[in-house]
Amino acid sequence: MTRVGVAATRGSIEVVEDPIARVRAWLEEARRVVPEAAAMTLATATTDGRPSARVVLLRGLDERGLTFFTNRASRKGDELESNAQAAVVLHWWQLGRQVRIEGRVERTTDAESLEYWRTRPRGSQIAAWSSPQSRLLRDRDELDALVEETSERFSGDEVPLPPFWGGYRLLPTSVELWTHREDRLHDRVRYVREGDGWRRELLAP
Ligand SMILES: Cc1cc2nc3c(=O)[nH]c(=O)nc-3n(C[C@H](O)[C@H](O)[C@H](O)COP(=O)(O)O)c2cc1C
Repeated sequence: MTRVGVAATRGSIEVVEDPIARVRAWLEEARRVVPEAAAMTLATATTDGRPSARVVLLRGLDERGLTFFTNRASRKGDELESNAQAAVVLHWWQLGRQVRIEGRVERTTDAESLEYWRTRPRGSQIAAWSSPQSRLLRDRDELDALVEETSERFSGDEVPLPPFWGGYRLLPTSVELWTHREDRLHDRVRYVREGDGWRRELLAP
């Protein structure tokens, strides 16, 4: 597999007023060439600063921020509920691009969570109810039994939004656009939130 588009991005990155618009454009390009282009690594931390990271899917990206959905009683949920600071990384090797975004998260509204929940396949909805995400399982049978129980419970009915499940929106205060260049002399442009606008700065690679 070869990188595409790197040559086209050589030279300085265009100045954009809104880095989120740039990330959206990059994501659209990535979707055409990268499997699971919306998979992003989400880092959270405990209140005493112990970090953890995992991949989640970016489900919404607009001027307000980045939205993802999860079990709010999971490890990431626990960490975000006690320490709202988070960071995400998107990497599209085929495009020679990396995006780093930092900020605090807020919960999406119940209406937003419900709207997304309704788009999920029934199997995923049953799984979300059944799996006590991040908790210890005795064995796989325990999970299978929980899934069976949930399936019976909602048999013939719509699966409702679980009270412990929903979205978070990361409100970016810093957005770094990284572009691969020869000899590791990559382009790094960071946008830092300033009032309603962004300050643009260059970082050494
Ligand atoms: C490609 C990919 C996409 C994923 N998307 C999500 C997601 O959108 N939400 C989610 O809760 N977990 C998602 N996961 C699973 C998480 O990586 C993780 O295993 C799970 O959320 C538990 O993490 P935690 O124990 O740190 O809370 C995804 C995993 C992969 C590999």
